[in-house]
Amino acid sequence: MKMKQSKRELKAPFLLHGGDYNPDQWLKYPEVLKEDIDLMQSAHTNTFSVGIFAWSALEPEEGLYNFEWLDKIFDDIHSFGGKVILATPSGARPAWMSKKYPDVLRVNAERVKQLHGGRHNHCFTSPTYLEKTEKINRKLAERYGKHPALLLWHISNEYSGDCHCDNCQAAFREWLKEKYDENLEALNDAWWGPFWSHTFTDWEQVESPSPNGEDGVHGLRLDWRRFSTDQTVRFMENELVPIREITPDIPVTTNFMADTPDLIPFRGLDYNRFADKIDVISWDAYPTWHNDWETTAELAMKVGFIDDLYRTLKDQPFLLMENTPSAVNWHPVNKAKRPGMHILASMQMLAHGSDSILYFQWRKSRGSTEKFHGAVVDHDRSPDNRVFQEVAELGKRMEKLAALQGTHRAAEVAFLYDWENDWALEDAQGYGLDSKQYIKTMHAHYRPFWKQDIPVDVIMKDHDFSKYKLLVVPMLYMMNNQTAEKLEVFVKNGGKLVMTYISGVVNEHDLVHNGEWQDKLTGIFGIRPLETDTLYPRDRNHVLYRSKHYEVKDYATVLELTGAKTLGDYEEDFYKGTSAVTEHAYGEGIAYYIGARLEDAFQDDFYAELLKTELINSPVGITKQEGVSIQVRYNEDSLFVFIMNFSEETRDIQLDQLYDDVLDGGNVEGDIQLDSYEVKVLRVSK
Ligand code: GAL
Repeated sequence: MKMKQSKRELKAPFLLHGGDYNPDQWLKYPEVLKEDIDLMQSAHTNTFSVGIFAWSALEPEEGLYNFEWLDKIFDDIHSFGGKVILATPSGARPAWMSKKYPDVLRVNAERVKQLHGGRHNHCFTSPTYLEKTEKINRKLAERYGKHPALLLWHISNEYSGDCHCDNCQAAFREWLKEKYDENLEALNDAWWGPFWSHTFTDWEQVESPSPNGEDGVHGLRLDWRRFSTDQTVRFMENELVPIREITPDIPVTTNFMADTPDLIPFRGLDYNRFADKIDVISWDAYPTWHNDWETTAELAMKVGFIDDLYRTLKDQPFLLMENTPSAVNWHPVNKAKRPGMHILASMQMLAHGSDSILYFQWRKSRGSTEKFHGAVVDHDRSPDNRVFQEVAELGKRMEKLAALQGTHRAAEVAFLYDWENDWALEDAQGYGLDSKQYIKTMHAHYRPFWKQDIPVDVIMKDHDFSKYKLLVVPMLYMMNNQTAEKLEVFVKNGGKLVMTYISGVVNEHDLVHNGEWQDKLTGIFGIRPLETDTLYPRDRNHVLYRSKHYEVKDYATVLELTGAKTLGDYEEDFYKGTSAVTEHAYGEGIAYYIGARLEDAFQDDFYAELLKTELINSPVGITKQEGVSIQVRYNEDSLFVFIMNFSEETRDIQLDQLYDDVLDGGNVEGDIQLDSYEVKVLRVSK
């Protein structure tokens, strides 16, 4: 399957710079609203997301609408050439609705009905909420669909969570009936029913998982998470009905999240299931810059991973929908971005494929929980404010980068990431309960590519594998036969495949493959994993690979070779002298298996060697020092090269040719230096 590119393109006249704007909080302060329009221009911003949580301002009483204030905002933004991203307000709802229609309220896993309040707390199955969101969206589309400032729809806000009410339970049972063809026995088989007497004899006995009830049936937990994703997608599709009908040419997005503080992809929903329903991917990035547990470069690598994952969901430019120009208000410690960091972090987003830098939030509010969350306009309301100045400076630089818009990236290397695998691995009772760490394992393998500036796509199991030279598959614990077949075809046709320990263990129902390690995998890799040893943190073992010793951590899989040749052997314990790392020529390609979790130096050396043999290089021949990241975007005639110093030191760079300096003007060549957090954007014809 092709990646899910959209036909409905974002036709923006510029790289988007601006963000979440909440005029509905300031309707009693017309002077502030007027000031906003002036400040937006001084900040070199051009695009604003409005209406995100504005339902009570739009429909203060049931059926009584008030759009005048929003009309004015549209017109005012349009008056200076700005664009509007119009949100549907379903992320939070007015109190009258919860009071009158309690079915909109969410029920948690303990089966406790939630009270009105907060946000992101509605039932995705509620007939009332489906009807009300469809209706308000229709009104918005009718009123603003033809407004020249309307650029994009922002559907709801950061969909998340699940609801366990009776309506959801009934919908879950219907979903299961469809999935298992009305065959309860098939469900019992898939969920390993006889274990602890968990065989169902009537569909009505089936309920969502709960800490107060059933929480240990892995097949049930997995299906519940799939259902919750599907129910959220269906809710979104319902929101889209009037939007697609009335504004067929306006693209839509919904903003994705990342889990923080350890910046990893959001795990609550399988975002891949949203990808072909929306036109543009967007996400909200809140890295804990300047934290005290990792280097700036390490955190930048993690940001790069999510960018590469979310971008690849549609294989087209994405949008950074939210970030803060300074501090957030919800990290353990809310540190201000040091001077330069905001521009650097923004440039990284652009470098990895974003066509926007948008903020939460334009102006700091006066009350409630987000009043101290960073914003472009601080409580001082002053354009002389340091943060405002840095935003304005970024805006000016983005204007110089206009040609970047719509340019793409190209990768010869792909990583396979799978949300369902993450869920199943988390559930697995075994191995080390805390050491499985799927994403950290991804990072451990992605890091060497990031350090060497090798572009990477992070693909899904339903994507096309064939366009890559090298495919890296860390810890794909859950693997169905179809994926195994795709991997086989990939290698047979000349692909180079790297897979790690704890892969191919369970099928799509989270049932362990019966008996042999999947025959197909044994065929591809020429090995059979015999057992996986789990290590305590103080346990020591090593693998000898190319005359160097690398420390084993957490996992060591003991292998039987059925055709592979060994590249590295264990040095201690009862499996001393047996293979830990193998290579197997298969068809036109080669399959590598890394049986142990090894220290970073191993990944550095292993992939350096592989990249050398496979002639996979950074798209430019620039040399640099540690902590500097080089990323490239292309169009038909140019390469845009971002050189970003994520270290706290000045760094030396040796350019490989003459470049145009896009930000500072003129040409550069030879040796240059970048100060800490400094960025250069260079351009060269292809
Ligand atoms: C996002 C959310 C915004 C705002 C922001 C604060 O998750 O979409 O509305 O709350 O966090 O960082």
